[in-house]
Amino acid sequence: MKRLSSIIDSGAETVREALGKPANAKVGLVLGSGLGFMADRLEKSVKIPYQKIPGFLASTVIGHEGNLVFGELSGVEVVAMQGRFHCYEGYDPADIVTPLYLLKRIGVEGLIITNASGGINTDYQAGDLVVIRDIINFSFHNPLIGENDDAIGPRFPDMSTVLDVDWYDRVKNRLKEKNKELKTGTYVFALGPMYETPAEIRAFRYLGADLVGMSTVPELIACRHCGIRPFGISCVTNMAAGVLMQKLSHQEVMDTANRVKDTFASLVKVVVESYA
Ligand code: HPA
Repeated sequence: MKRLSSIIDSGAETVREALGKPANAKVGLVLGSGLGFMADRLEKSVKIPYQKIPGFLASTVIGHEGNLVFGELSGVEVVAMQGRFHCYEGYDPADIVTPLYLLKRIGVEGLIITNASGGINTDYQAGDLVVIRDIINFSFHNPLIGENDDAIGPRFPDMSTVLDVDWYDRVKNRLKEKNKELKTGTYVFALGPMYETPAEIRAFRYLGADLVGMSTVPELIACRHCGIRPFGISCVTNMAAGVLMQKLSHQEVMDTANRVKDTFASLVKVVVESYA
Protein backbone atom coordinates (compact mmCIF):
# COMPACT_ATOMS: atom_id res chain seq x y z
CA MET A 1 0.00 0.00 0.00
CA LYS A 2 2.92 2.28 0.71
CA ARG A 3 3.77 1.57 -2.91
CA LEU A 4 0.48 3.12 -4.11
CA SER A 5 0.96 6.22 -1.96
CA SER A 6 4.52 6.70 -3.15
CA ILE A 7 3.49 6.25 -6.81
CA ILE A 8 0.79 8.88 -6.33
CA ASP A 9 3.26 11.18 -4.59
CA SER A 10 5.80 10.98 -7.39
CA GLY A 11 3.05 11.31 -10.03
CA ALA A 12 1.81 14.46 -8.32
CA GLU A 13 5.35 15.83 -8.19
CA THR A 14 5.82 15.15 -11.93
CA VAL A 15 2.59 17.03 -12.69
CA ARG A 16 3.63 20.00 -10.52
CA GLU A 17 6.99 20.18 -12.28
CA ALA A 18 5.39 19.98 -15.73
CA LEU A 19 2.91 22.75 -14.90
CA GLY A 20 5.50 24.85 -13.08
CA LYS A 21 2.91 25.40 -10.32
CA PRO A 22 0.40 23.39 -8.29
CA ALA A 23 -2.55 22.11 -10.32
CA ASN A 24 -5.80 24.00 -9.81
CA ALA A 25 -8.39 21.87 -11.59
CA LYS A 26 -11.36 20.76 -9.51
CA VAL A 27 -13.06 19.03 -12.43
CA GLY A 28 -11.54 16.11 -14.32
CA LEU A 29 -12.54 14.37 -17.51
CA VAL A 30 -11.87 10.80 -18.60
CA LEU A 31 -12.27 10.67 -22.37
CA GLY A 32 -13.40 7.39 -23.88
CA SER A 33 -13.11 5.86 -27.36
CA GLY A 34 -13.25 8.47 -30.08
CA LEU A 35 -13.91 11.25 -27.53
CA GLY A 36 -10.30 12.29 -26.86
CA PHE A 37 -10.74 15.25 -29.25
CA MET A 38 -12.29 17.09 -26.30
CA ALA A 39 -8.84 17.52 -24.72
CA ASP A 40 -7.78 19.42 -27.85
CA ARG A 41 -10.64 21.88 -27.28
CA LEU A 42 -9.23 23.05 -23.94
CA GLU A 43 -7.81 26.56 -23.87
CA LYS A 44 -4.38 27.44 -22.43
CA SER A 45 -3.61 23.73 -22.41
CA VAL A 46 -0.56 21.90 -21.10
CA LYS A 47 -0.19 18.29 -22.28
CA ILE A 48 1.77 15.71 -20.29
CA PRO A 49 2.28 12.32 -22.04
CA TYR A 50 1.22 9.40 -19.86
CA GLN A 51 4.62 7.74 -20.20
CA LYS A 52 6.20 10.60 -18.27
CA ILE A 53 3.88 10.25 -15.27
CA PRO A 54 4.49 7.58 -12.62
CA GLY A 55 1.35 5.49 -12.12
CA PHE A 56 0.09 5.87 -15.69
CA LEU A 57 0.04 2.88 -18.01
CA ALA A 58 0.43 2.93 -21.78
CA SER A 59 -2.71 3.39 -23.94
CA THR A 60 -2.74 0.56 -26.47
CA VAL A 61 -6.10 1.16 -28.16
CA ILE A 62 -6.71 3.21 -31.31
CA GLY A 63 -8.62 6.35 -30.34
CA HIS A 64 -6.91 6.62 -26.92
CA GLU A 65 -4.03 9.06 -27.29
CA GLY A 66 -2.43 8.85 -23.86
CA ASN A 67 -2.00 12.38 -22.51
CA LEU A 68 -2.97 14.16 -19.32
CA VAL A 69 -4.12 17.59 -20.47
CA PHE A 70 -4.62 20.60 -18.22
CA GLY A 71 -6.53 23.61 -19.53
CA GLU A 72 -9.74 25.61 -19.41
CA LEU A 73 -13.21 24.83 -20.65
CA SER A 74 -15.81 27.62 -20.48
CA GLY A 75 -13.37 29.47 -18.21
CA VAL A 76 -13.26 26.56 -15.73
CA GLU A 77 -9.91 24.89 -15.01
CA VAL A 78 -10.09 21.19 -15.88
CA VAL A 79 -7.79 18.25 -16.38
CA ALA A 80 -8.52 15.64 -19.03
CA MET A 81 -7.31 12.08 -19.39
CA GLN A 82 -7.04 11.82 -23.15
CA GLY A 83 -7.36 8.07 -23.39
CA ARG A 84 -8.06 5.48 -20.71
CA PHE A 85 -6.98 1.97 -19.76
CA HIS A 86 -9.10 -1.17 -19.94
CA CYS A 87 -9.00 -4.57 -18.25
CA TYR A 88 -9.05 -6.23 -21.68
CA GLU A 89 -5.64 -4.72 -22.41
CA GLY A 90 -4.36 -7.13 -19.78
CA TYR A 91 -4.04 -4.50 -17.09
CA ASP A 92 -4.82 -5.12 -13.46
CA PRO A 93 -7.99 -3.14 -12.56
CA ALA A 94 -6.13 -1.65 -9.57
CA ASP A 95 -3.51 -0.18 -11.92
CA ILE A 96 -6.23 1.19 -14.22
CA VAL A 97 -7.51 3.47 -11.46
CA THR A 98 -4.17 4.68 -10.03
CA PRO A 99 -4.41 7.86 -12.20
CA LEU A 100 -7.74 8.68 -10.53
CA TYR A 101 -6.17 8.57 -7.10
CA LEU A 102 -3.50 10.88 -8.47
CA LEU A 103 -6.20 13.26 -9.74
CA LYS A 104 -7.75 13.24 -6.29
CA ARG A 105 -4.35 13.98 -4.74
CA ILE A 106 -3.85 17.04 -6.96
CA GLY A 107 -7.23 18.50 -6.06
CA VAL A 108 -9.82 17.04 -8.45
CA GLU A 109 -13.23 16.88 -6.74
CA GLY A 110 -15.60 15.95 -9.57
CA LEU A 111 -14.93 13.61 -12.50
CA ILE A 112 -16.80 13.38 -15.79
CA ILE A 113 -16.25 9.83 -17.01
CA THR A 114 -17.13 9.28 -20.65
CA ASN A 115 -17.27 6.21 -22.82
CA ALA A 116 -18.59 4.68 -26.00
CA SER A 117 -21.22 2.02 -25.54
CA GLY A 118 -23.65 -0.26 -27.25
CA GLY A 119 -27.34 0.58 -26.81
CA ILE A 120 -29.37 -2.24 -25.28
CA ASN A 121 -32.44 -0.13 -24.59
CA THR A 122 -34.36 0.05 -27.86
CA ASP A 123 -35.52 3.60 -27.04
CA TYR A 124 -31.95 4.65 -27.73
CA GLN A 125 -30.31 5.13 -31.08
CA ALA A 126 -26.72 5.45 -32.24
CA GLY A 127 -25.50 8.95 -31.44
CA ASP A 128 -27.49 9.35 -28.19
CA LEU A 129 -25.70 10.68 -25.12
CA VAL A 130 -26.89 8.99 -21.94
CA VAL A 131 -26.05 9.79 -18.31
CA ILE A 132 -24.98 6.71 -16.35
CA ARG A 133 -27.34 6.49 -13.42
CA ASP A 134 -26.36 3.00 -12.23
CA ILE A 135 -24.04 0.14 -13.11
CA ILE A 136 -23.89 -3.65 -13.24
CA ASN A 137 -20.39 -5.06 -12.86
CA PHE A 138 -20.62 -8.14 -15.07
CA SER A 139 -16.83 -8.32 -15.49
CA PHE A 140 -16.36 -9.61 -11.96
CA HIS A 141 -13.12 -7.63 -11.89
CA ASN A 142 -12.74 -4.98 -9.23
CA PRO A 143 -10.01 -2.37 -8.70
CA LEU A 144 -10.38 -2.60 -4.92
CA ILE A 145 -9.39 -6.26 -4.62
CA GLY A 146 -6.28 -6.60 -2.46
CA GLU A 147 -5.06 -4.72 0.58
CA ASN A 148 -7.04 -1.51 1.22
CA ASP A 149 -5.29 1.80 1.84
CA ASP A 150 -7.51 3.40 4.49
CA ALA A 151 -5.85 6.75 3.81
CA ILE A 152 -7.39 6.63 0.30
CA GLY A 153 -10.82 5.22 1.09
CA PRO A 154 -12.83 2.68 3.07
CA ARG A 155 -12.57 -1.08 2.69
CA PHE A 156 -16.27 -1.32 1.79
CA PRO A 157 -17.32 1.80 -0.13
CA ASP A 158 -20.97 2.66 -0.56
CA MET A 159 -22.15 2.40 -4.16
CA SER A 160 -25.82 3.22 -3.66
CA THR A 161 -25.52 6.28 -5.88
CA VAL A 162 -23.18 5.91 -8.81
CA LEU A 163 -24.07 9.35 -10.16
CA ASP A 164 -23.56 12.57 -8.18
CA VAL A 165 -27.22 13.46 -7.92
CA ASP A 166 -26.79 17.15 -6.99
CA TRP A 167 -24.48 17.72 -9.93
CA TYR A 168 -26.89 15.90 -12.21
CA ASP A 169 -29.82 18.03 -10.97
CA ARG A 170 -27.90 21.23 -11.76
CA VAL A 171 -27.11 19.91 -15.25
CA LYS A 172 -30.73 18.93 -15.80
CA ASN A 173 -31.96 22.39 -14.76
CA ARG A 174 -29.51 24.16 -17.05
CA LEU A 175 -30.56 21.98 -19.97
CA LYS A 176 -34.23 22.57 -19.18
CA GLU A 177 -33.63 26.30 -19.67
CA LYS A 178 -32.50 25.39 -23.18
CA ASN A 179 -35.49 23.05 -23.67
CA LYS A 180 -33.18 20.04 -23.70
CA GLU A 181 -33.52 16.75 -21.86
CA LEU A 182 -31.07 14.06 -20.91
CA LYS A 183 -31.56 10.33 -21.02
CA THR A 184 -30.25 8.26 -18.12
CA GLY A 185 -29.54 4.55 -17.97
CA THR A 186 -27.86 1.58 -16.37
CA TYR A 187 -24.48 0.59 -17.80
CA VAL A 188 -23.30 -3.00 -17.73
CA PHE A 189 -19.55 -3.62 -17.74
CA ALA A 190 -18.66 -6.55 -19.99
CA LEU A 191 -14.98 -7.42 -19.97
CA GLY A 192 -14.43 -7.52 -23.73
CA PRO A 193 -12.49 -7.23 -25.93
CA MET A 194 -14.99 -9.10 -28.09
CA TYR A 195 -18.32 -7.44 -28.62
CA GLU A 196 -21.10 -9.29 -26.88
CA THR A 197 -23.29 -12.00 -28.39
CA PRO A 198 -27.03 -11.40 -29.00
CA ALA A 199 -27.85 -13.88 -26.19
CA GLU A 200 -25.65 -11.92 -23.77
CA ILE A 201 -27.38 -8.70 -24.76
CA ARG A 202 -30.81 -10.27 -24.19
CA ALA A 203 -29.60 -11.44 -20.77
CA PHE A 204 -28.26 -7.96 -19.92
CA ARG A 205 -31.57 -6.39 -20.96
CA TYR A 206 -33.37 -8.85 -18.70
CA LEU A 207 -31.05 -7.81 -15.85
CA GLY A 208 -32.04 -4.17 -16.34
CA ALA A 209 -29.13 -2.83 -18.38
CA ASP A 210 -29.62 -0.07 -20.97
CA LEU A 211 -26.02 0.28 -22.15
CA VAL A 212 -23.06 -2.06 -22.49
CA GLY A 213 -19.37 -1.28 -22.59
CA MET A 214 -15.90 -2.40 -21.62
CA SER A 215 -14.81 0.40 -19.29
CA THR A 216 -15.95 3.05 -16.80
CA VAL A 217 -17.03 0.78 -13.93
CA PRO A 218 -13.50 0.55 -12.41
CA GLU A 219 -13.29 4.36 -12.51
CA LEU A 220 -16.75 4.81 -10.97
CA ILE A 221 -15.83 2.41 -8.18
CA ALA A 222 -12.54 4.27 -7.56
CA CYS A 223 -14.41 7.60 -7.41
CA ARG A 224 -16.76 6.33 -4.74
CA HIS A 225 -13.81 4.76 -2.94
CA CYS A 226 -11.70 7.91 -2.69
CA GLY A 227 -14.48 10.51 -2.54
CA ILE A 228 -14.50 12.03 -6.04
CA ARG A 229 -17.96 13.03 -7.28
CA PRO A 230 -18.71 10.98 -10.43
CA PHE A 231 -20.68 11.96 -13.52
CA GLY A 232 -20.74 9.27 -16.20
CA ILE A 233 -21.73 10.06 -19.78
CA SER A 234 -22.06 7.34 -22.37
CA CYS A 235 -22.11 7.91 -26.10
CA VAL A 236 -24.22 5.20 -27.71
CA THR A 237 -22.02 4.55 -30.73
CA ASN A 238 -23.97 1.53 -31.97
CA MET A 239 -26.91 -0.57 -31.00
CA ALA A 240 -25.73 -3.65 -29.07
CA ALA A 241 -25.27 -7.04 -30.73
CA GLY A 242 -28.43 -8.55 -32.14
CA VAL A 243 -30.54 -5.41 -31.79
CA LEU A 244 -30.19 -4.42 -35.42
CA MET A 245 -28.97 -7.67 -36.97
CA GLN A 246 -25.81 -6.04 -38.22
CA LYS A 247 -22.15 -6.62 -37.43
CA LEU A 248 -20.35 -4.44 -34.89
CA SER A 249 -16.97 -2.83 -35.47
CA HIS A 250 -14.56 -0.42 -33.79
CA GLN A 251 -14.77 1.67 -36.95
CA GLU A 252 -18.49 2.23 -36.39
CA VAL A 253 -17.74 3.21 -32.78
CA MET A 254 -15.18 5.78 -33.93
CA ASP A 255 -17.39 7.06 -36.79
CA THR A 256 -20.41 7.67 -34.52
CA ALA A 257 -18.26 9.33 -31.83
CA ASN A 258 -16.91 11.57 -34.58
CA ARG A 259 -20.40 12.39 -35.86
CA VAL A 260 -21.66 13.57 -32.44
CA LYS A 261 -18.51 15.50 -31.51
CA ASP A 262 -20.21 18.88 -31.24
CA THR A 263 -23.24 17.68 -29.26
CA PHE A 264 -20.90 15.81 -26.93
CA ALA A 265 -18.71 18.90 -26.51
CA SER A 266 -21.73 21.10 -25.66
CA LEU A 267 -22.98 18.60 -23.08
CA VAL A 268 -19.56 18.30 -21.45
CA LYS A 269 -19.38 22.11 -21.27
CA VAL A 270 -22.74 22.29 -19.50
CA VAL A 271 -21.63 19.57 -17.06
CA VAL A 272 -18.36 21.43 -16.35
CA GLU A 273 -20.19 24.75 -15.91
CA SER A 274 -22.65 23.08 -13.53
CA TYR A 275 -19.98 21.65 -11.24
CA ALA A 276 -19.65 24.53 -8.79
N1 HPA B 1 -20.28 -3.37 -26.61
C1 HPA B 1 -19.27 -3.15 -25.75
N2 HPA B 1 -18.53 -2.05 -25.78
C2 HPA B 1 -18.83 -1.12 -26.69
C3 HPA B 1 -19.88 -1.28 -27.61
C4 HPA B 1 -20.65 -2.47 -27.56
O1 HPA B 1 -21.59 -2.68 -28.34
N3 HPA B 1 -19.90 -0.16 -28.39
C5 HPA B 1 -18.92 0.64 -27.94
N4 HPA B 1 -18.26 0.07 -26.92
